[in-house]
Amino acid sequence: MLEKIQKLIEEVNALQAKNAEEVEALRIKYLSKKGEITAVMADFRTVPAEMKKEVGMRINELKNLAQEKINALRDAVQVEQTAGSDLDLTRTPYPVKLGARHPLTIVKNEIVDIFSRMGFTLAEGPEVEDDWHVYSSMNFADDHPARDMQDTFFVEAHPDIILRSHTSSVQARVMERQQPPIRVICPGRVYRNEAVSARAHCFFHQVEGLYVDKNVSFADLKQVLLLFAQEMFGTDTKIRLRPSYFPFTEPSAEMDVSCTICGGKGCSMCKGAGWLEILGCGMVDPAVLEANGIDSTQYTGYAFGMGIERIANLKYQVKDLRLFSENDVRFLDEFKSAN
Ligand code: DAH
Repeated sequence: MLEKIQKLIEEVNALQAKNAEEVEALRIKYLSKKGEITAVMADFRTVPAEMKKEVGMRINELKNLAQEKINALRDAVQVEQTAGSDLDLTRTPYPVKLGARHPLTIVKNEIVDIFSRMGFTLAEGPEVEDDWHVYSSMNFADDHPARDMQDTFFVEAHPDIILRSHTSSVQARVMERQQPPIRVICPGRVYRNEAVSARAHCFFHQVEGLYVDKNVSFADLKQVLLLFAQEMFGTDTKIRLRPSYFPFTEPSAEMDVSCTICGGKGCSMCKGAGWLEILGCGMVDPAVLEANGIDSTQYTGYAFGMGIERIANLKYQVKDLRLFSENDVRFLDEFKSAN
């Protein structure tokens, strides 16, 4: 018995392994339930009493040695394998590269945030829409030029199904399922069949606002837009409303803000005018309320719509619209601090 143990000790001392599989095979050979050392331990019963002490000590020695040897071999092959894969675990780590929010997302969040502080809730609608929600329910005449192929992308198989060309369609989506009071802010992507250039794109982003209740007036609209402009561009910002025309509002207006660069003195940004146009707005045309199931003798409302790219341009002076959709990380990285 002692000889057998001595032989195993020598064997174990000489063990070698090239990889993790070989180490595991050795562990099974010596230390598993059916391993050689376990077998020796099982034979311990047969050892005469006077030898038990010595044999017991030798078996323990063998077992510990085998365990240590296998652990050492396992460590050795692990180090070798990591070295083989060019991994240097002692090296200082590279900084983790963090992404940044897209500038349009930053601006959209800011717009939504400002209006939600004034009680507006978020509403969204589909980008693939039907003619009714984009045009007919918004009081566009059948022959209105905006429906023209030059503006609208049609989904070929269905002449009635289009890509929405403005977020005003979400007004209809909200009104058809909800009675006043309605106070929603609706951001989203819109599509127009335009040649892509620095100043135009075939898709861009808008935010629509809609407020319908009893006794809503043009003065309410003006005050909300003034607060918005001052939150967005600074408390010194002034606004002016110029009469305009949209099929879905009556009266309609376009809103300018005092130039975000020169404050109104006139510069290259505002082309000397001192004012920059930022949105369209007006009182919801009673025909639109009626088309969407709202009693226009009881309720009035206002609506407005603005382009997110336009606001982002004013805030960040991005000269080329295409930068917003090209995913050039050098451009996107510039907005890290604005997150
Ligand atoms: N839908 C208009 C556009 O795409 C923007 C707009 C103007 C929305 C006036 C409105 C509004 O809600 O009242 O140019």
